[in-house]
This record gives sequence, C-alpha cells and structure tokens, in this order.
Amino acid sequence: MTPTEVKHFFDAHWTVRKYKPFAMPAEHLDAILHAAQRAPTDATAQMYSLIRLSHPGLKQSIAELSGNPHIVTASEAFLVCGDIHRLEKYLQSQAHDIGHFPSIATHFAIGDAALAGQNLLLAAEMLGYRGCWIGGVMNALHEISALVELPKGVIPYAALTIGIADEAPIHRPRLPREQVIHENRYKTPEAKDLLAGAEQMASISPRGNWVQTLARYFAKNGSMETREQSLANFLQVRFGKKI
Ligand SMILES: Cc1cc2nc3c(=O)[nH]c(=O)nc-3n(C[C@H](O)[C@H](O)[C@H](O)COP(=O)(O)O)c2cc1C
Repeated sequence: MTPTEVKHFFDAHWTVRKYKPFAMPAEHLDAILHAAQRAPTDATAQMYSLIRLSHPGLKQSIAELSGNPHIVTASEAFLVCGDIHRLEKYLQSQAHDIGHFPSIATHFAIGDAALAGQNLLLAAEMLGYRGCWIGGVMNALHEISALVELPKGVIPYAALTIGIADEAPIHRPRLPREQVIHENRYKTPEAKDLLAGAEQMASISPRGNWVQTLARYFAKNGSMETREQSLANFLQVRFGKKI
C-alpha cells in the first residue's frame, strides 16, 4: 500500500449503526477472527475473550440493556472482554497461584481486549463491512455478564457490531493533529487551541457545540459519573480491586 492508500483506507472508516440484512460468509468470519487473534498482546498473555453473540434472543436482550438496537440487525456482534480467568487457569495447570494485581489486570486486559477488537474491526473494514464499538454495555455490566455467564476475572470492555452499511458515509472529524500527537514532551492546549479544536469538532454535534456534547458525558453529574460507581463495584467483584 502507498501512504496515500493508507490514508484513504483510514479515511473510509466511519461508524455504522444501520445495517442491511446480510449473513456474513464463513470465510469472512474466519478472516476477522484470525485478525483479532493476531493482535499484539501484553506479555504474550492474551488477556481478552470475545463472546460471539449469535443467539437472537441474547442479541435482543443485550441490545436493550446496552441501548444499542443495531446489535440485533448486524451481521455479527461480539462482546469484547478483558480476561484474566483463562490466565489463572493456565497458571493453576502448573501449580502456580495467580498474583494479586487488580490494577495491572485492568490496565493490560482492557488494552489487550481493545487491540483485538480493533484488529477485528479493521479486518472487517478491509472486507467492505463497517461496524460500531458499543460502550453502552457499561450501562448494564452485571446483567450482561450474567447473560453470557462470564466468570470472575472477566469483564466486558465493549460490544462490537459488524455489518454491511445501510446508511450514507459520514466523515466525523478529529482534533487537530498537534493537540493529540506531541513531540518529546506533553503540551497542554492553550485557549486558542481549545477554540480551534472545538471548531474543528463542531460538526459532530447536532447543535454545533462539541464541548457541550462532551459535558453530557464527562462533566459533573454527566453519565460517566453514573457508570463510574458501577464499574468500580464490578472491578472489585471481578478483579478484587479495592475502592
Ligand atoms: C470504546 C467505544 C465505545 C463506543 N460506544 C458507542 C456506543 O455505545 N454507541 C454508539 O452508537 N457508538 C459508540 N461508539 C462509536 C463512537 O461514537 C464513534 O467511534 C465516534 O463518534 C467517532 O465516529 P467515527 O467512528 O464514525 O469516526 C463507541 C466507540 C468506542 C471506541
């Protein structure tokens, strides 16, 4: 691929939430799962698991619990999880007790899960599919985990849907490169940079105010505060993390 082709490929990424009815051929499914497993992984441990959601009733329930109805209509849907349960089993198989590292587990298992899921999405995009990451699973961590029988040591990171787009392409902007890619030292954006960034991102929100959109999630009393307590409780139960 030439550099220009690489840029065109990534410019053609867009999140799709409306899909045509289409059963993914087995060869395509095999290729995207292969790509997921080829992701780099911390310490060779592969601290992640993907749960393929194929049962219609289960998809319906997770779609409702996560508030993302396209889980039902996508060709394929996965629950992408951080997983130290299997790691523990491997250690036990040669009489090792697993250590106590809940923060490290959270950090690297979620990293591994995101890398594998993004590899899967990129492979699907190479085959002409589009997809959507779904952090909405955080709204019902306990319920969704119970539905797919996740053991202790496994935590959902997000779901991921893949399908054939049934909506027009949208090129959603990103922040100016210099605010995200730093050279040698971190640089905090100044007031003028914040204005420029907000302007560049404005088209992402219906009222043209991206910061207001961010505030609904991340400001005081925003939805992330609600998720925070639920995840903290969940991490305590699953990874033994103190809060
Ligand atoms: C971790 C993560 C969680 C996300 N959660 C959701 C979600 O719950 N529902 C949804 O419709 N989109 C979700 N998205 C998609 C983002 O909204 C989308 O990637 C973003 O708006 C940028 O748009 P683009 O991917 O089209 O460039 C999520 C993306 C990521 C990476």
